[in-house]
Amino acid sequence: MPVLENIGMLAACRAEGGQSEIHAIPSAALAWKGERIEWVGPQSELPTELRNELRIDAFGGLVIPGLVDCHTHLAFGGWRSDEFEMRIRGKSYLEIARDGGGILSTVRKTRASSHADLIERGLGFLKEMTKVGVTTVECKSGYGLDLQNEIKQLEVYRRLSGLQPCRIVPTFLGAHAVPPEYDGNRRGYLESVCSEMIPRIAAEKLARFCDVFVEAGAFTLEEGRSVLETGKEHGLAPRIHADQFSDGGGALLAAEVGAISADHLEHASAKGRGAMASRGVLAVSLPLASLYLNQPALDARKWIEEGVRVAVATDFNPGSAPSNQLPLVMWLACHLQRMTPNEVLKGATVIAAEVVQMQRDIGSLEAGKLADFAVVEAPDVRQWMYHFREQSVVQTY
Ligand code: NIG
Ligand code: FE
Repeated sequence: MPVLENIGMLAACRAEGGQSEIHAIPSAALAWKGERIEWVGPQSELPTELRNELRIDAFGGLVIPGLVDCHTHLAFGGWRSDEFEMRIRGKSYLEIARDGGGILSTVRKTRASSHADLIERGLGFLKEMTKVGVTTVECKSGYGLDLQNEIKQLEVYRRLSGLQPCRIVPTFLGAHAVPPEYDGNRRGYLESVCSEMIPRIAAEKLARFCDVFVEAGAFTLEEGRSVLETGKEHGLAPRIHADQFSDGGGALLAAEVGAISADHLEHASAKGRGAMASRGVLAVSLPLASLYLNQPALDARKWIEEGVRVAVATDFNPGSAPSNQLPLVMWLACHLQRMTPNEVLKGATVIAAEVVQMQRDIGSLEAGKLADFAVVEAPDVRQWMYHFREQSVVQTY
């Protein structure tokens, strides 16, 4: 049984306690057997029967649970660096989308990509993510927008699961945009999402969650509600892209349908926030998307103080968040969202694990959970986020 010893600080990040309670153990050790954690605690209390096991030196580093990136759009064709520059020059995300760019431009490139193309790119992205401590990634469809191409994206995720060590959690996001062939016939597209795609995808177990983009220019509240309710009938747990550019009542809808999370939320109302707090809907903050799209970032301080648990994720996609570096995003969450380093770490581990409904197995370092963890070259979490360096994560298990 391997024992990681000489850990300067171990952040156990159990679910209990407030968002800033990370259950830090100084001078710790961690033992695991097969894929599960066997023992975790102060090294001075290491049980005698573990003393002769294989000992691995953490060189006084910080040990954290494997990071969980609970919101990404990982499989896509092409990039959109032209739009990055257009936005710098003053054009807005919605203007670019209206002129034929945005999500639909990635839909064209994703439809034109083969399974093999998408798998190869996905492998590269996941390798980079593993390197910075990420061990679980939620991956959305939503760049296919027809039965065949939505299934293609989800099959790519299934293949990627078996080809590399990072755990993949797939989400169906057919209601991401109305594809060009249904221009002027949104009802027709929603009919296809609800009667054709959801039943087939659920039957083939290609997704665990159903997500929808509720926003002016995307889908209305009523449309979002019907997609999420249909998903629920087929066993797909609801999530929602809500209130990103305007308050469209998305946070309230999330509470109404009992969504696991509402994501973005930059413009959510106080009423929506209160409803999410009382229904226990998790907030997923995406500071990179706020930054890239010139949105005011989520005031996470206020959300946490009002009783909502706030996860932090990359939103990795070629438009609003073209980076897959979760530690960088955690650092941004400290700066832009007024989250403390401890709050951010819980938001990218145990709370994010709950967003993907895997809190029984991952997200914290305690006996019985999967032995997913990373070693960071820093004495503690605060110093890690404060003295931010590119290669601070030195090992991922
Ligand atoms: O989460 N908001 C909608 N969807 C993505 C952006 C997708 C894109 O621009 O391609 C997001 O930000
Ligand atoms: Fe997103």
